[in-house]
Amino acid sequence: MRNKAISIRPAMRGDFDAIEAVHQAAFSVSDFGYNGEGLLARQLHETGDAVVSLLAEVEGTPVGHVLFSHIRVEADGHPLVAAALAPLGVVPEWQDRGIGADLIKAGLAALKPQGVQLVFVVGNTTYYPRFGFKVELAKPFDSPYTGPYFMALSLDSNLLIPEKGSAEFAPAFANF
Ligand SMILES: CC(C)(COP(=O)(O)OP(=O)(O)OC[C@H]1O[C@@H](n2cnc3c(N)ncnc32)[C@H](O)[C@@H]1OP(=O)(O)O)[C@@H](O)C(=O)NCCC(=O)NCCS
Repeated sequence: MRNKAISIRPAMRGDFDAIEAVHQAAFSVSDFGYNGEGLLARQLHETGDAVVSLLAEVEGTPVGHVLFSHIRVEADGHPLVAAALAPLGVVPEWQDRGIGADLIKAGLAALKPQGVQLVFVVGNTTYYPRFGFKVELAKPFDSPYTGPYFMALSLDSNLLIPEKGSAEFAPAFANF
């Protein structure tokens, strides 16, 4: 099936319904169940907090989506340019074919030239570390998600792990 052409492109306003449907299908069969991740994606777009939003399609049919949103971050008293990865979803019939990985890698590649130094994610600690996310890097940052599933990845080779910091997610996360 992977030999069908998979394309990844920036999501647009007209894609909101498709994005919601992708997350509903993806999360409904996951261990967590669907908790409105599609609505979160829509709200992040509507509030202007979406930094990078990518849609994966197979022959024009949406099969996956990832969004990176603005997050206000301070490290040892200094602001950092940062983004939060959420939500990420691939429809069940297309999972385990590398689409999630392709979306994450394409998203990180799009964030770097925008000057994003740090990317946070809350999620599975066996999946995200394969892209370089580390629990250790997120640990000093105080946020509602601080804990064992809170990870960060540095896109800035000069960035040092701070002693203390904070990470304030976009307002849409408060409704989630
Ligand atoms: C998580 C998800 C986005 C991964 O996308 P994908 O296209 O299926 O993943 P990939 O093909 O890139 O990678 C597959 C690998 O990830 C692993 N994997 C998939 N979902 C995983 C999960 N929730 N936790 C840990 N590992 C997972 C698979 O076992 C597979 O491992 P392998 O390479 O060792 O065989 C997709 O499974 C999904 O939409 N799940 C439901 C929604 C969800 O959980 N989103 C993430 C919230 S943190």
